[in-house]
Amino acid sequence: MNSNRLTGRRIIVFGCATGIGAATVKRLAQEGARVCAADINIDGATQVAAEAGGETFAVHVDIADEGSVQKAVEAAVERLGGLDGAHINAADLRVIMEDSDALTVDLAVFDRTVAVNLRGHLLCTRAVLPHLTMNETSAIVYTSSGSAHGAEPVRPSYAMTKAGVNALMRHVASRWGREGVTANVLAPGFTITGEMKKFMDADPGVAKQWEEQFMTETPHTRLGQSEDHAAVVALLLSDDGRWINGSIVDVNGGSLM
Ligand code: NAI
Repeated sequence: MNSNRLTGRRIIVFGCATGIGAATVKRLAQEGARVCAADINIDGATQVAAEAGGETFAVHVDIADEGSVQKAVEAAVERLGGLDGAHINAADLRVIMEDSDALTVDLAVFDRTVAVNLRGHLLCTRAVLPHLTMNETSAIVYTSSGSAHGAEPVRPSYAMTKAGVNALMRHVASRWGREGVTANVLAPGFTITGEMKKFMDADPGVAKQWEEQFMTETPHTRLGQSEDHAAVVALLLSDDGRWINGSIVDVNGGSLM
């Protein structure tokens, strides 16, 4: 790891109390970034910020709420004096556990998923863009999912919103690229994290079945870890990733090719 690659970079991470976002906050801090850890779970984000060390601090945000997003970004900008990058990673993952299809999906669940996983990403983008330095160091990384571009017989709400995040990323990459901003998507494969871990812990039978299924799909001898994703986000936010723009980066050990 190049531990100085992000020295002084001012980065906000939305959705980082657990899982991929938490690992990302720690990785960015290790690489020298000044990080604002923003999450609806402020206690979790505060703990992550303390563990990350360096100049890392936590703010509360509900990315589905425009006022809350504005307030969080203003707090980050006030403390950091501007922004060089953002990782827009938060998602409502309760939908992941649902065994629904287009005929059975509950519209209240669909609306909630759209509010956080899609509209929330637009709100974060709108709040962040005016504060980016608009030079050759600015970058936004979104977290989407292989569900957006792979077969997905269940959970249409999740797949639809993640496909929308891919489209938002392409919009930002093509509209703001000339102004020095890169935008890319991290598309993780199966990784045991916060909400999913709770679900799996509650039902060891399902947990075993899922793990076996994903191990069969992955040409590897292990499952993905949050740290595997954090390493890629750090690359995309650094100068080493400058020539990657408008890309969907699958990080899944080869489970989706
Ligand atoms: P996680 O449940 O550990 O993390 C999600 C984070 O988002 C939590 O800290 C949660 O408090 C926060 N959050 C939820 N709603 C929020 C809101 N309205 N406002 C602000 N923060 C909110 O889950 P994980 O796995 O780390 O997920 C991170 C991203 O990776 C998500 O976008 C997810 O869809 C994506 N992903 C995860 C995969 C996996 O297998 N774990 C696979 C593909 C994509």
